[in-house]
Amino acid sequence: MITLITNIKELLQVRENAISKVSGAEMAVLPSLKNAYLILKDNIIEDFGLMENLPKIKADKVIDATGRIVLPSWCDSHTHIVYAGNREQEFVDRINGFTYEEIANRGGGILNSAKKLNETSEEELYEQSKLRLEEVIHLGTGAVEIKSGYGLTVEGELKMLRVIKKLAQNYPIAIKATFLGAHAFPLHYKENKAGYIDEIINTMLPEIAQHQLADYVDVFCETGYFSVEETEEIMAAGIRFGLKPKIHVNQFNSIGGIQAGVRFKALSVDHLEIMNPEDIEALKNSETMPVALPSCSYFLSIPYTPAREMIQAGLPLALATDFNPGSTPSGNMNFVVATACIKMKMTPEEAINAATLNGAYAMGLSETHGSITKGKKANLILTKSISSYYQIPYAFGSNLIESVFIEGKIIV
Ligand code: NIG
Ligand code: FE
Repeated sequence: MITLITNIKELLQVRENAISKVSGAEMAVLPSLKNAYLILKDNIIEDFGLMENLPKIKADKVIDATGRIVLPSWCDSHTHIVYAGNREQEFVDRINGFTYEEIANRGGGILNSAKKLNETSEEELYEQSKLRLEEVIHLGTGAVEIKSGYGLTVEGELKMLRVIKKLAQNYPIAIKATFLGAHAFPLHYKENKAGYIDEIINTMLPEIAQHQLADYVDVFCETGYFSVEETEEIMAAGIRFGLKPKIHVNQFNSIGGIQAGVRFKALSVDHLEIMNPEDIEALKNSETMPVALPSCSYFLSIPYTPAREMIQAGLPLALATDFNPGSTPSGNMNFVVATACIKMKMTPEEAINAATLNGAYAMGLSETHGSITKGKKANLILTKSISSYYQIPYAFGSNLIESVFIEGKIIV
């Protein structure tokens, strides 16, 4: 099946030679072709170029994209979209003056979601989660990472990971699964932290590895959650079971989690709202992708990741949603890109690089996703008729997407 898209006003993120990520000053450059064509063969990008060089081909389907822009689908490298119920009461409690920390300390927060999840059947959890996945696909996400971490029991964590696996089997977008058993200490282990870590390492990880339920291992490294030493112990165990780390660090405090992540060659370190100069220094010349989650900063009214300082220091940066019931009940990557521009002072070019190619890197998918490159997956966004791609962050509340292609098929 050959699909030809003609007269594309601008084709964004065109990379002739596949590169895995963009860093520092390179992030300001978003390579593009104006007045372009794009050829899809089945699920793959076959060819692209300027309209004046359009080859004579027999296409099964021709789409005239006059006035419209085409870009690769968003790559959302950090989500928790498998969860049960919601936490709207905590949202109202925060409006009334309680902090995220106060709510967590009285049994709300992650433990609240864990209670709900353990009371919900696997079938029901799948039904609730698939609606969120369908929503984000309609919003232009073409690859997504999904974490466990609301089970905090052997059964609960395995149930979440099985739901992620089923989503991956039933939906055409790329899905990576991350085991986040170390998201919080369950109540009955509050006085026996070593006991829970032992359960993660010696019961959960072997089961997960045996049934190939996860690609990555995650830890919430934060004051009041998992210490740097505990994080290192869990990362080391994950690596022994073939899971590369991708960790939550520096959301509320800088305690050395970034340095630990870099030492363990974490694929990404995520959140980074609180960054000191040593944290930025530690990331230089590393393989670890820093990931910012601006919707979380927006929703919790906490600082934004200092993108300018990080890019100025030559670092790459990826953007993701963090879609979860507590700190970010939104999976809208368009809003993430807009918020990164408006609040973090990223340019539209930097934000789009961060939400496509660098996002793909942060979930190990940059060989197949994140840019318009021959041989990559035909996962694309076709915008409505717009004046330029600046509209994507500028018109922050509008849905500018006309069509979404996943594996070469129009699904919206
Ligand atoms: O990434 N920071 C830790 N975990 C999630 C939110 C957890 C929750 O409140 O449910 C996050 O923001
Ligand atoms: Fe998260």
